[in-house]
Amino acid sequence: MNQHIFNLPGPGRESVVDTLANLNEEKLAFLTKCSREYGDVVPLQVGINQVVLLNCPSYIEQVSKDRSLFVRGPHVRTALQRLLGEGIFLQEGESWFHQRHITQQVFYHQRITRYGETIVAYTERLLNRWRDGEIRNVQPDMMRLTLDIMWKVIFNHELTEEEAQDIAYILGISTRLFDQEGFNDQQLAMQNLRYERILEQMDQYIYSLIQQRRQSGENSGDLLSMLMQVSHEDNNSQMSDRQLRDEVVTLLFAGQEALAVVLSWTLILLSLHPEVQTKLLTELNEVLGDRCPSVADLPNLRYTESIIKEAMRLYPPVAVMPRIAIQDYEIDGYKVPAGCTVLISAWTMHRHPHFFEEPDTFNPDRWANDLEKQLPRGVYFPFGNGPRICIGKSFAQMEMVLIIATIAQKYQLTLVPDFHIILWATITLRSKQGVPVKLEKQCQ
Ligand code: HEM
Repeated sequence: MNQHIFNLPGPGRESVVDTLANLNEEKLAFLTKCSREYGDVVPLQVGINQVVLLNCPSYIEQVSKDRSLFVRGPHVRTALQRLLGEGIFLQEGESWFHQRHITQQVFYHQRITRYGETIVAYTERLLNRWRDGEIRNVQPDMMRLTLDIMWKVIFNHELTEEEAQDIAYILGISTRLFDQEGFNDQQLAMQNLRYERILEQMDQYIYSLIQQRRQSGENSGDLLSMLMQVSHEDNNSQMSDRQLRDEVVTLLFAGQEALAVVLSWTLILLSLHPEVQTKLLTELNEVLGDRCPSVADLPNLRYTESIIKEAMRLYPPVAVMPRIAIQDYEIDGYKVPAGCTVLISAWTMHRHPHFFEEPDTFNPDRWANDLEKQLPRGVYFPFGNGPRICIGKSFAQMEMVLIIATIAQKYQLTLVPDFHIILWATITLRSKQGVPVKLEKQCQ
C-alpha cells in the first residue's frame, strides 16, 4: 500500500460540495460530473474533510462487505441519538450484529405478507379523499399514508389526526436537525421543547403498550409483538423495554420517509410520462380487472415493479452513504487513511453510463429480462449493500407495488405545467416543492 489515495486525479479544492449532510441540485450535479470525469476512485475535499468517492462496483462491494471497518459520521449520531437510541441504525460492531439477527426475523416473507390488505385498504381510504380534476400536492399524502401504514403495522393502532401531526413533526425535525437547515439557535431551542414533549408522549405510549403485552401475553400480530416474541425465542435473551422502544422507533423512522419519497418520485415520473401510465394501466387491467391488488398478484405486476425500480434508480432515497474509515484501509493498492470518509453514492452509480444506456432517461422497460440480476453487485443499490442492507427491503417492495397499483387503477396524474423539480437531499432525497399534480379519475 504505497500510494496515497489523495494522489489520484480529482477536483481537489475545486469541490463545490462543502457538506454531505445537505446536498442540493448543484452539489449532486458536481458529484455526477466527478464520477464521469475522473477514475474509479475520486478524492474530494468536502469542507475540512477528506472524502473518497467510489465509482467502481467492486470497490463499493469491498467497502460494503468490510462494513465493520467503517462507521457512520458523528453528525448522524448527534442528530438521531435522542430519537433512535440504541436501535440498530446507530449501532456498530457486536451489539449491531446481535440486534440485527433478532430484528430481521420479523421481516421473513410469510410474516410480512399479512400486511398486504392493510396497505391496500389505507391507500383506498386516501383515494376517497382525492377529487376528480383536483390539483393536489401528493407528497404530504404519501408521507401521511406511509406513516399511517407503518404505525398500524408496528403497533396495530390507528393514529388520530393530532397524533399523526405530532409524530410527523418529530420525524421531520429529526431530518432537519440532520442538516440544520433554516433554524437559528433560538428556533432550535423552541423546536426542542416541542420535540421533547412529543417524544416523551410517544415513549410513554410505547412503554405502556409493551407493559400491557408483557402482562397479558397478548400477541397483536404487529411488529412490536413479533419483536417481543422473536427476541424471547432467541436464546431466551429478551429485549429490554428500552431496546424494544428503540427498535420500533428505528423501524418507523427508517421506513416511513424512504417509502414516502420513493412513492412521490414514482408519481412525479408517472405524471411526466403518460405513455408509461397507459402501459401500467394495461398491466393492471390484465392482472386485476376491476378488483383491488393483493399480495398474491405481486409476481404478475412486473411492469409496476419496474416503474418503481426505475424511480429508485433515478432518485435513490438514500442518495449518498458516507462511511468513515476507523483504521487505515486499502483500495486497489491505495491507502485510505483512518478518519477519511469513503462515499458510496447511489446517486452517481445509478446514472453510470457504463451500466445504464441513456442513464438520465426514465425507462422502466430497461428492467425487463431481469436486468437487476445481470448487473454487477455494487451498481444498483437503492436499499444499500452488504451486511447492513435495508432490513425492510422486502416489506418496502411489497408496499410500494401495492400502493402504486391501487393509485394507478383509479387515477391518471399530470404534473402541473411549468413545475420545476428542485432536488433536496438530506437524510433522503426528495422534491423540495413536493409533487403538485392534476388528478383525473380513470374511466371505469
Ligand atoms: C423504499 C423504501 C426504503 C429504502 C429505499 C430504504 C433504504 C435503506 C438503505 C439504503 C439503508 C442502508 C443505509 C446505510 O447503510 O447507510 C437502509 C437501512 C435500514 N432500513 Fe431501509 N429503506 C426503505 C424502507 C425501509 C423500511 C420499510 C424499513 C422498516 C420497516 C426499513 C428499515 C431499515 C433499517 C432498520 C435499516 C438499518 C439496517 C442496519 O443498519 O442494519 N427501511 N434502508
